[in-house]
Amino acid sequence: MRILVTAGPTEEYLDDVRFLSNPSSGKMGYAVADAARRRGHDVTLVSGPVSLPAPRGVRLVPVVSARDMLRAALRAFPRSRAVVMTAAVSDYAPRRRVAGKIKKDGRGLRLELAPTPDILKRLGDRKGRRILVGFALEAGDEIRNAREKLKRKRLDAIVANSPKTFRGDRIRATVLLSGGAVLGFPPLTKRAFARRLVRLVEKLGER
Ligand code: CTP
Repeated sequence: MRILVTAGPTEEYLDDVRFLSNPSSGKMGYAVADAARRRGHDVTLVSGPVSLPAPRGVRLVPVVSARDMLRAALRAFPRSRAVVMTAAVSDYAPRRRVAGKIKKDGRGLRLELAPTPDILKRLGDRKGRRILVGFALEAGDEIRNAREKLKRKRLDAIVANSPKTFRGDRIRATVLLSGGAVLGFPPLTKRAFARRLVRLVEKLGER
């Protein structure tokens, strides 16, 4: 299968040297890309800024902002059979980017933020027969919120996990399928979980 994987955080610049972001390491997405390649799939990995080596045999498309990630994802989407969206996309970006460096003047600074595009939702709106897998980072009421995202973004599966997963090497996930099934997983390394997730995507692709 041709599989599109997104990974890492996005960075939303307010001037030339500062940005809004989150602590996503990219490990989960890189593990999915690597596991999929090892299973013989053709993988495009659209990645925000991370400090991980490029997985071997994978087409890596580096991006910075949510806007860049949307553009790269839309480009790879038409020829993809499945999408696994692990990226921790910033939901807001500064409304305007100041050229140079904002100087301090001893007073407060008010930042105006604008919403970024919901990439997965945009892909969901044109999904056709493609398989879409999202991640849901939930601080509370994990299952209920993840189920709502599954529906809203027209996903086939969503991986619910907690912010503890950020940066770490392990993940404790619950996977919800569009048919209603709930798959509980024990705590696993991201590499081990990635292998299982790729098998699940393959199964969904057989339908
Ligand atoms: N996502 C996306 N584009 C965004 C925000 C999120 O494609 N601008 C994707 C993520 O990659 C993930 C899924 O949507 O696969 C859910 O992300 P999450 O941050 O959990 O949810 P949000 O849709 O941002 O909702 P909220 O922040 O209200 O929980």
